[in-house]
Amino acid sequence: RSDNKVKIVEVGPRDGLQNEKKSIPLATKIELVERLAKTGVSFIEAGSFVSPRWVPQMDNSSEILEHILTKMVSSPVPITYSFLAPNAKGIDNASALLQKHTGAYITQAESFAGAIAGDKPAIELAVFAAATESFSKKNLNCDIATSLEKFKDVVQGAKKLGIRARAYISVVLGCPFEGYDVDPHKVAEIATSLLEMGADEISLGDTTGMGTAPRTQELLKCMAAAGIRNEDIAMHFHDTYGQALVNTAISLERGIRTFDSAVGGLGGCPYSPGATGNVATENMVYFLESLGMETGIDLDAMADIGQWISKELGRPNDSAVGKAVLGA
Ligand code: HMG
Ligand code: MG
Repeated sequence: RSDNKVKIVEVGPRDGLQNEKKSIPLATKIELVERLAKTGVSFIEAGSFVSPRWVPQMDNSSEILEHILTKMVSSPVPITYSFLAPNAKGIDNASALLQKHTGAYITQAESFAGAIAGDKPAIELAVFAAATESFSKKNLNCDIATSLEKFKDVVQGAKKLGIRARAYISVVLGCPFEGYDVDPHKVAEIATSLLEMGADEISLGDTTGMGTAPRTQELLKCMAAAGIRNEDIAMHFHDTYGQALVNTAISLERGIRTFDSAVGGLGGCPYSPGATGNVATENMVYFLESLGMETGIDLDAMADIGQWISKELGRPNDSAVGKAVLGA
């Protein structure tokens, strides 16, 4: 990949919707995924195989995965659809569907062999660790070490299915329960365990949006010192304090080229009180393109989706760029 190409992972359908209190109709979720698939974005996080008692909004993720495997409209670029899965039950539920539709998705081996076709999706599963014990307990009901043991089932299961495994680490730049006191060495240590387990990419989550430029810099230095390659790192900024693009600039300077964002700035983690949405994809695309970086994303199409989904959810459009582009 050339140095000015940036990979955007659109997490709106998962991170963006998971925290909405009112149940969102399945048709709206599917329409969101289908509209995003036409914008030129190549990675879409579409749902979550977690306990419906913990995150009720993600309950119909099986239907979304099944739709992607059987009825998805073709897209202008090959797309990888990602789903969270924290444990054996999550991977079992996802596997059952993937095995039912073997051949409906492209495997990692096929894509390495250059056989990527726009008409077949690739699927990815994602585990999610935490950088602090308090957050791990609140989000996963277990400590960090136990969570890593459980993730092995998911990562190995994904490999058996021939698909990618992503791994998040949450609260890397601030924790709702432990404050700013998050040890970057601990983050690097967890990242190393996840990579050794077989994860294909580590997404570093600033869940609370408490991250600042100097602390982003320090974290990435620490990752490099631990021997973790930039190609294996994604940054996942929530924009609660409005620092996401500043922290993106720092990450770009350090050579990171993968960023997570959500259309319309949707989002928030149900187990991170007060945290607001992910950085808006529209803001991200506008910013990156202004630097001469390529995202492959049609900004106008993305802005339209941001406006539409915000209205569907009955909330204000949280993307400054989206509103400006639309004159809204
Ligand atoms: P637990 O209660 O300890 O689970 O929760 P358990 O293993 O004891 O099982 C209890 C019940 O849940 C059982 O059902 C299981 O079958 C069921 P019962 O026998 O009582 O009827 N169960 C499941 N059902 C469906 N799918 C599953 C599953 N697992 C168990 N996968 C658990 C542990 C991990 C399940 C729970 O804590 C959980 O679901 N947590 C998910 C929380 C979550 O989704 N948070 C948001 C995503 S993370 C995030 O937003 C951060 C991120 O964006 C990055 C960032 O910003 O930092 C990624
Ligand atoms: Mg998040």
